[in-house]
Amino acid sequence: MLNIAVFASGRGSNFRALFDSLQRESAEARIVLLISNNSNAGAMEFARSVGICSLHLSQKIFSSAAEFTAAVSNALRENNIDLIVLAGYMKMIDPEIVAAYRGRIINIHPALLPEFGGPGMYGYRVHEAVLRERKKISGATVHYVDEEFDHGNIILQERIPVLENDTPELLAERVLEVEHRILPMAVKQIADAHLHHNQG
Ligand code: GRF
Repeated sequence: MLNIAVFASGRGSNFRALFDSLQRESAEARIVLLISNNSNAGAMEFARSVGICSLHLSQKIFSSAAEFTAAVSNALRENNIDLIVLAGYMKMIDPEIVAAYRGRIINIHPALLPEFGGPGMYGYRVHEAVLRERKKISGATVHYVDEEFDHGNIILQERIPVLENDTPELLAERVLEVEHRILPMAVKQIADAHLHHNQG
């Protein structure tokens, strides 16, 4: 069984889509922990509603970055986390945690990386940039997380057309549907590999 920790800062629709998918498929994977830097996040509320342990951990409530990182590391260890899923998490993951979980942290990004990624490229800014550059296609990417924003190896991508009268809001809505499809797909691929690996 793959124990998953989700990190989310906002409403949590990717978290919810992943949860629903794992429930439906009774996959060899389960979300056992939700960490958010935002105590009002919809993701925290959803976690509570389905009985998933949710922790509000943010740099702001610790007196040093080291203490914050230690609290995150402890929560991951105590829950025997095998895979970290960043689902709309707006903070960098401390390099110490990236190193400890290398190859076991994935992120969902609302564009076709390596384009339209990196610091500051989140939310509508991504879609505004795609429209500004008159791109004909956009989409979403699931990738491994390393020490740089939106930089690690790509796991899955899915493309959609950019439409003539697209606004950032309309494009964001269609890209989000892609995200809700490919994040669960990527997690299931990883869970299957983990299962076969452990079966030897
Ligand atoms: C998604 O567009 C995701 O790609 C980006 O932030 C948004 C999170 O949305 N990282 P939600 O909180 O999963 O609804």
